[in-house]
Amino acid sequence: MRDGDFEGGQAARAVFAYHEASKHRLDGYAPGPAQVNWDHQPSPYRQFSGAPRLALPLAAHSYSARFAELYAPRFEAPAPMEMSNIALLLELSLGLSAWKVMGTDRWALRCTPSSGNLHPLEAYVLAGGLPGLEDGLYHYAPESHALEARARGDMSGPGLWLGLSSIAWRETWKYGLRAFRYTALDTGHAMGAIRFAAASLGWSVQRVVSLADHDLAALLGLSRAADFAGAEREAPELLLHLQPGRAREAAAPDLVANEWFGQASQCDPRGAQTWPGMAEITEACRAPAQSLRAGQGEASLEIPPKNPGQLAAPVILGRRSARRFTSRQPIALADFTALMAAAMPGAASPQALLPQGSKTHLICFVHKVEGLEQGLYLLPRADADLEALRTALDPGFTWRELALPGGQLRLYQLAGGNFRPVIRKFSCHQAIAGECGVSIAMLGAFDAPIAQAPWSYRALHWEAGLIGQSLYLCAQQAGLAGSGIGCFFDDEMHALLGLSSRRFQVLYHFALGYPREDGITTEPAYGRPEPERGI
Ligand SMILES: Cc1cc2nc3c(=O)[nH]c(=O)nc-3n(C[C@H](O)[C@H](O)[C@H](O)COP(=O)(O)O)c2cc1C
Repeated sequence: MRDGDFEGGQAARAVFAYHEASKHRLDGYAPGPAQVNWDHQPSPYRQFSGAPRLALPLAAHSYSARFAELYAPRFEAPAPMEMSNIALLLELSLGLSAWKVMGTDRWALRCTPSSGNLHPLEAYVLAGGLPGLEDGLYHYAPESHALEARARGDMSGPGLWLGLSSIAWRETWKYGLRAFRYTALDTGHAMGAIRFAAASLGWSVQRVVSLADHDLAALLGLSRAADFAGAEREAPELLLHLQPGRAREAAAPDLVANEWFGQASQCDPRGAQTWPGMAEITEACRAPAQSLRAGQGEASLEIPPKNPGQLAAPVILGRRSARRFTSRQPIALADFTALMAAAMPGAASPQALLPQGSKTHLICFVHKVEGLEQGLYLLPRADADLEALRTALDPGFTWRELALPGGQLRLYQLAGGNFRPVIRKFSCHQAIAGECGVSIAMLGAFDAPIAQAPWSYRALHWEAGLIGQSLYLCAQQAGLAGSGIGCFFDDEMHALLGLSSRRFQVLYHFALGYPREDGITTEPAYGRPEPERGI
């Protein structure tokens, strides 16, 4: 046995143990704080004091890219890679989308959703040879839409990269042990948000796989202990290579820094803290360097917009998690079909962003969709898993095959009936899961990929987050809304589906339907004018 095998086995065992320990159950939630004191919420914004700041222009309100381009990018005519377009990319992916105001409370929303609106992620730009940006490493400050220079120096070549890191404590202080999962789901949503904003510019996005996590930490300046003295450390999440036009092979950048700037701010004034078990799962999920994949393979699936003139920016900025749904209005079959298409690998989670092929399938609890019987359905996202799903799921399921309009997508009806009460109950008793039009449980192939590469536990959650982001945007443009649901009773769901092994596990729930007004005042972010809506 080689050393690596043993370590790999240990890491996989640690991931399985964490997964079990972080399950919510009908008779008890995963370990977390007994009470939530909002005065203790760590700041969702980090600044690097002393770092030179570059205020970015705001341009989303007059941006003319169409929604359809998010799924069918104009790769043949990409926008030039220069500072103003990098600013637009950040505004439409990681920037603030609105302020909500209720009484004396005021809180910001962002283009990316986040469990509990806690936003554990930080973002870094690496720029080489781009007009308007000196070569170097920058930290993105979403609250002011500005870049803070962290390092200047020589880049190995021209290009643009976006790195993500996380301060899991921003989630952990509220959610305890389950926070690691939520941070990984949020990372998937952010990958999706970046990918769609890039698509609107005709840019492609690929994950750089050749850097191990510790190399990424060094590249993003996260391992510079003195710069984080007294402040929470950041864990490296991933690096994305953005290229104008169709993706060519993703390359890792090399920055030889001449000068570093900035001291990280402390997010929790009570000091850096953690929750028992978080350090172990973070360690077990460290990604090694992987070899470059040949070709990207997957054809994208275009989502015809409901309104061909619909602009992209108002959909991205207007994306909201529904706080309640109306249970009476059915989702039209055409809209449901578009949503299912938006969840498919080419549209939602291309190979270029994930380490291995699609591993996640949708279990749909259809409550109210025109032309579809109420019941439990499966949308397989990779045919390779179909037989394994047949074996693993309840042998009593009917497996009635249906073709959705357009003939591109196959759906299997597994059981008929009204699942509103049960999915509400198993989604931690949350009303949205029962009153929406369709509730989804994302079912990931689990044991095998994790035994092979323990860190892929994170990647499975990225995939679920990517699917969620595509569903959010597709729902928004159709006049519907979505909501991620990270709180669910894992094993009760598994029992409902007849799953008795860990071959597949539910990783994320999602609700889709017609939203009810939340009655909370919305104000534009950054004081920007309301975007034009398009025709
Ligand atoms: C991973 C994840 C899990 C979430 N879980 C829940 C949930 O269990 N219940 C809920 O009502 N909203 C949930 N949400 C929605 C967030 O509360 C919402 O994204 C956040 O408040 C920001 O609002 P916005 O999405 O409208 O920008 C979740 C979102 C994400 C990304």
